[in-house]
Amino acid sequence: MENTARKKIIFSGIQPTGIMTLGNYLGAIKNWTLLQEEYHCCYSIVNQHAITVRQDPKALRENTLAAYALILACGIDPEKSIAFIQSHVSAHAELSWALSCYTQFGELSRMTQFKDKSAKHPENVNAGLFTYPVLMAADILLYQADLVPVGIDQKQHLELARNIAQRFNGIYGNVFTVPDGYIPKAAAKVMSLQDPTKKMSKSDDNPKSFIGILDQPSTIIKKFKSAVTDSETCVCYREGKDGINNLMSIYSAVTGKDYDAIAAEFEGKGYGDFKVAVGEAVVEELRPIRERYEQLMQDKAYLESCYRAGAEKASSIAGRTLEKVYKKIGFLPK
Ligand code: TRP
Repeated sequence: MENTARKKIIFSGIQPTGIMTLGNYLGAIKNWTLLQEEYHCCYSIVNQHAITVRQDPKALRENTLAAYALILACGIDPEKSIAFIQSHVSAHAELSWALSCYTQFGELSRMTQFKDKSAKHPENVNAGLFTYPVLMAADILLYQADLVPVGIDQKQHLELARNIAQRFNGIYGNVFTVPDGYIPKAAAKVMSLQDPTKKMSKSDDNPKSFIGILDQPSTIIKKFKSAVTDSETCVCYREGKDGINNLMSIYSAVTGKDYDAIAAEFEGKGYGDFKVAVGEAVVEELRPIRERYEQLMQDKAYLESCYRAGAEKASSIAGRTLEKVYKKIGFLPK
């Protein structure tokens, strides 16, 4: 019989690098909030991953707090889930070192994100960029996570985390839970509004291509109005209609309507009406988040108490795993 006694453990992380987009929200954070009902969830603002690319110290500090406030504003409940900042839990860096000695140079060389990022920043191909996936493996394995919600771009890293866990377990016995990827049913892949063949990205040079979670309603409407579509007039989900498909997927994620219902709703209407409807639906979805975020940012003491408590809970779980690992490896106990 299925064991119903133990709730599964979820771990996921997000980097604090600038404004989060509608893509981050509909593709990840919204699902994080839904998962809280069914699982033990740990969510981390991974500032240690962020420094693989040069960061301005003040901006990194501010973005870290903002990202933390934003996940709470989106509905991560610090009572239900463990919400913490990666650098506050020293076990991440410590386990990362140990695991790096069980990870092959060749494996890391094959990571496509490393290849892409080193091509993009040829002036700063640092060792952290190379060992980034080991730190990510440490994040996950410290909490004995069963499931890891990640986008498609992180699947290769997750596969590596599984390999590292299996290798370590093969040598020392069952130390780590081998995590599975979790591709949420409801996750939407949100594309750029200006080039709908590309993923919506906050680092896009054209700010019209992405919606920031904290964008003002008038800005959101304007950006949707200027979204790139096609020269037809049919609001229907079809191959080749990347722009309309993207808008339909956003509208569907926000309203819960399926593609047939959306097509029926806009039959005989132009793209102009559709774009405004999508914009308005997104405005209403994001409004409470922006308001809650603004409240939270007024109350730094509350935020501080949340991330401190989060770090404490995370440290106690992570510390237990690290201790076990150190013992298995043969480090002399303190
Ligand atoms: N690498 C992930 C990203 O850039 C962020 C991340 C870090 C993460 N550690 C993680 C995601 C652990 C899932 C689990 O998106």
